[in-house]
Amino acid sequence: MDFGMQNRLFRIINPKDNKTVMLAVDHGYFMGPTGGLEEPKKTIEPLLAYADSLMLTRGILRTQIAPSFSIPLVLRVSGGTSILKDDLSDEDITVSMEDAIRLNVCAVAISIFIGSDHERQTIVNLAKLIDKGNKYGIPVLAVTAVGREMARDVRYLSLCCRIAAETGASIVKTYYCEDFEKVVKTCPVPVVVAGGKKVSEKEALNLAYNAVKHGASGVDMGRNIFQSVNPVAMIKAVKSVVHDDITPDEAYDKFIAKFIG
Ligand code: R5P
Repeated sequence: MDFGMQNRLFRIINPKDNKTVMLAVDHGYFMGPTGGLEEPKKTIEPLLAYADSLMLTRGILRTQIAPSFSIPLVLRVSGGTSILKDDLSDEDITVSMEDAIRLNVCAVAISIFIGSDHERQTIVNLAKLIDKGNKYGIPVLAVTAVGREMARDVRYLSLCCRIAAETGASIVKTYYCEDFEKVVKTCPVPVVVAGGKKVSEKEALNLAYNAVKHGASGVDMGRNIFQSVNPVAMIKAVKSVVHDDITPDEAYDKFIAKFIG
């Protein structure tokens, strides 16, 4: 692996413990003004000090994030659908690699939709993006298993993650499931876990803890942080679970203490 690619990956996944807390705020690319992100800058800025990297779209980066922030960026570069459509899988590449480089990103992110009507198209898009990324030393993060109705079980998620890795993705993002260690074991690149829909803070901390315990390289979490009653306290709690090996109960106690205090 060349220096640039490796250096960018180390900026995303901390080489000290091989873990990351990626803050995901890219939801608007198909969900519009998602709850908590109506005014992105107000929500995102206070969280930046606690995230290892930030996953977002070009439009939000350009308009809402000051260039003075030095946080490593993971740029969402796929899209083309919206929540008004039943089928979210009809995505294409929506940002050129040259523009991603101009925006000084550490990685680009694209979704693949395994088992969908547009499975082939999204895998080929991933492959094309990886070829471009390899040319310039930009890692590609493959997002798997986004969609409404699907069995997010170990068999399906292992299939998705392995296909992403075989295609050449440097990092794979997926969902946590029972027997998650099998997903990680059969995926030769780091796996990060999405938070999914908002659940209680305690449940989200349990999810982060279990994911890391069973081999995840961290989380790429959005709604369970920015929709929390106290997003700053929540990202700190998530960080302590991922990086400091703190139990979810201890982290939750800290969260409550911060919230009350
Ligand atoms: C979904 O396609 C987006 O990439 C989100 O970034 C991802 O789902 C993670 O966010 P959340 O933790 O809210 O599920």
